[in-house]
Amino acid sequence: MDSLTEAFRALGDPTRLRILRLIVEARLNVSEVVSLVGVAQSSVSHHLTRLKALDLIREERHGGFTYYSLAIDEKAALWPLIKLARGAPDTLGDKARLTELLRRREDVQTLNEKLLEPGQSWRLWSAALASLLPPLEVVDFGCGTGVLTVELARWARRVTAIDRSESALTKARAEAARQGLKNITFLAADLEQLPLPSSSVDLVVVSQSLHHVSSIEAVLGEGARLLKVGGRMVVLELLPHDETWVRARLGHQHLGLDPVTVEKAMRAVGLDAEQTVPAARDATSPFKAFLLTGTRTRKTHAKLRSA
Ligand SMILES: C[S@@+](CC[C@H](N)C(=O)[O-])C[C@H]1O[C@@H](n2cnc3c(N)ncnc32)[C@H](O)[C@@H]1O
Repeated sequence: MDSLTEAFRALGDPTRLRILRLIVEARLNVSEVVSLVGVAQSSVSHHLTRLKALDLIREERHGGFTYYSLAIDEKAALWPLIKLARGAPDTLGDKARLTELLRRREDVQTLNEKLLEPGQSWRLWSAALASLLPPLEVVDFGCGTGVLTVELARWARRVTAIDRSESALTKARAEAARQGLKNITFLAADLEQLPLPSSSVDLVVVSQSLHHVSSIEAVLGEGARLLKVGGRMVVLELLPHDETWVRARLGHQHLGLDPVTVEKAMRAVGLDAEQTVPAARDATSPFKAFLLTGTRTRKTHAKLRSA
């Protein structure tokens, strides 16, 4: 009973009652309490010490801060005090400020998660995965302005970046030079017929270029020819879509491609097609992508030789 009386007396201080009422609603650190009740930090610390001494609140460390939270539950003898604190009139707008503070906390959480999403940290993620690879001979089919080429060049032994567009290659060369990448060979050529030796490459990357070409099989066939036995092909393509404007405006030959068709074409040129994975979707875009991988096996090797 004594402790209850003492506690009631302690909560006779209006600031202390406000602080307890806030901590009942949310776990808070000292600076947050200061910003909510608008009194000096030394005074807030004093009130917190008193509440802690009454075993009403507890202290815990989290992320470099000390947080205060409610230490009792409904079964505790002091619970009537909590009810009293909750029921006290909020004449200074503490609850509204607390709601705003919690909303801002939520935003920080959302922001953190956004920063970790592909598109923000995907470069770091791909670099981490790529660091596990041995240095590979890579060919980038339809490199365009070289966005992907420069990423490949960070971990590849050498990248041969091919495009038929001289203006795209000029931009890609400039980007590679700006980034100080010296292991890229740029080549102006048609993907259907490449002036490169057979069985010389570990990885062929065909990212978003198949929808531009008239013969998918001819391009995939060239990719298969360049691969060493055990070499891999990665195709990143658009799924079928209805955006007809891309034909005239961007020169697309196909309105996306059916993964099954591409997989069949890969098999037709002798690659073991392995896996089709839908790529991450941006709900606001009409374009969705998929990823398909294939391997040149000994069988492919024999088939291409006899052809
Ligand atoms: C959409 S861009 C892809 C760029 C890059 N690979 C990427 O994923 O960001 C397609 C590129 O393929 C090139 N391209 C299309 N058909 C080609 C062909 N038959 N031979 C060489 N390049 C071709 C185009 O010039 C264009 O730069």
